[in-house]
Parts: sequence; structure tokens; C-alpha cells
Amino acid sequence: MIELAPSILSADFARLGEQVNRAAEGGGTVIHVDVMDGHFVPNITLGPQLVRSLRKATKLPLDCHLMIEDPDLYIPAFADAGADWMSVHYEACRHLDRTLNLVKNHGLQVGVVINPATPVGMLSEVLDIVDYVLVMSVNPGYGGQKFIPNSLRKVRELAQMREQRGLDFAIEIDGGVGMENIADVARAGVDWVVAGSSVFHAPDPAQAVREMQRAAEEALSVKV
Ligand code: DX5
Ligand code: ZN
Repeated sequence: MIELAPSILSADFARLGEQVNRAAEGGGTVIHVDVMDGHFVPNITLGPQLVRSLRKATKLPLDCHLMIEDPDLYIPAFADAGADWMSVHYEACRHLDRTLNLVKNHGLQVGVVINPATPVGMLSEVLDIVDYVLVMSVNPGYGGQKFIPNSLRKVRELAQMREQRGLDFAIEIDGGVGMENIADVARAGVDWVVAGSSVFHAPDPAQAVREMQRAAEEALSVKV
């Protein structure tokens, strides 16, 4: 079973509540919230205040993807604003173990993210701490970029490590996923798919989510 996480990065921020609810009606089960600081990534997006407003607009869990330097400084504010899940980048954390535990200690589901150029092996020592691993399938910073095919190999490798070690973290993929590649993504073994422009740039976000979900399920049923 694959869950779809619509990413609000590509939504119309002036109509955010309405757009998020449309995506939820289509079957989105978690709202992906991209936090960018203009340092770790070359773009600036949103802060805890917006998360607080979103919290009131939807009942779905909020998956905050922190693309920021010094995440320890901001984790308490995002947790307080109503984040449910929170992921931090391997590349942004000098003391990754400490940062992951900080998120956990705030009672949130914790995820670790790797950029396209980071091998999955770098996560070996934290796989037993996290609830999910987010594999970036584009370089973080913008929506609407082209999917990097090598990411699927990384997903398969992670799924293998999970099995070998008897762990149960979920695998999430983020960037460049749409109708044209959702079947391949599903077959690689991801649990959660983040989708921004393919959902919110579609004429109807609800229908876009529905179609992607159906394509993923079909791909998995063919495999068996
Ligand atoms: C990119 C963000 C993504 C972004 C994906 O840095 O982390 O969550 O919204 O957008 P699409 O689905 O358009 O590639
Ligand atoms: Zn993201």
C-alpha cells in the first residue's frame, strides 16, 4: 500500500486551506510541508506560523521536511506549531544522532533525508532510530524538477537493508514524481510518495491524487 503526500510547495499559498482539502479529498493521507531557509537550499519558503495555520485547516498529519541549517534551533518551534512528522537532512546535521533524538523527544515521528549524491550507506548508524527515510529524487530547493532515476536503486538498497536488519522504518521519496514514473517508483518499494507539481499544478488536485494512487496500486498488483 502506497500513501500519497501532496507537497504544498506547488500550491497557491493564497488558497492553501482549500487546496490542501482538495488533495485530501482525492486520498492524500499526509501533507508534506517544505521548509527552506535560503542557506541549505537556494530558496526560502515558510516558517512555524504557516504550519500553525495549516494545523487548523486540515486533520491530516503534517510532514515537515526541514531543508535548513542548524535545524536544532527550529525543531521546538515547528513541533509547537503542530508538526506531526519531521525530517532533517543528513547533510545539514553535524550531530545527526542528537538532532534525530531531539525530534523524537518532542513526540514526533522522525525522518532522515538524503540528497541525490549521498549514498544510503551513510545512514547505517541511524536506521534503527528513525521512523522514516526520505530519499530525495531531485536536488532539494524547488518543485517541478526532473526525477533522478538513480534514486530507485537507492530505494531498493534501503528496502534490502531494512529487511536484513529486521527494521521497520518507512521509505519516502520526494521530487519529480508524476503519472509518467509513479509505477516505477511504486515497484522500487517506497511506502510514501511526495508529489508537488503533479498534484497542485493539475486542474483538479483531488483527481490528480486519485489517479496517481490508482497507477501505483496497479503497478503493485501487476508485480505480484
Ligand atoms: C523539493 C521539495 C519537494 C517538492 C517536490 O526540494 O522537497 O517536496 O515539493 O516537488 P515536485 O513533486 O514538483 O518535484
Ligand atoms: Zn520535500
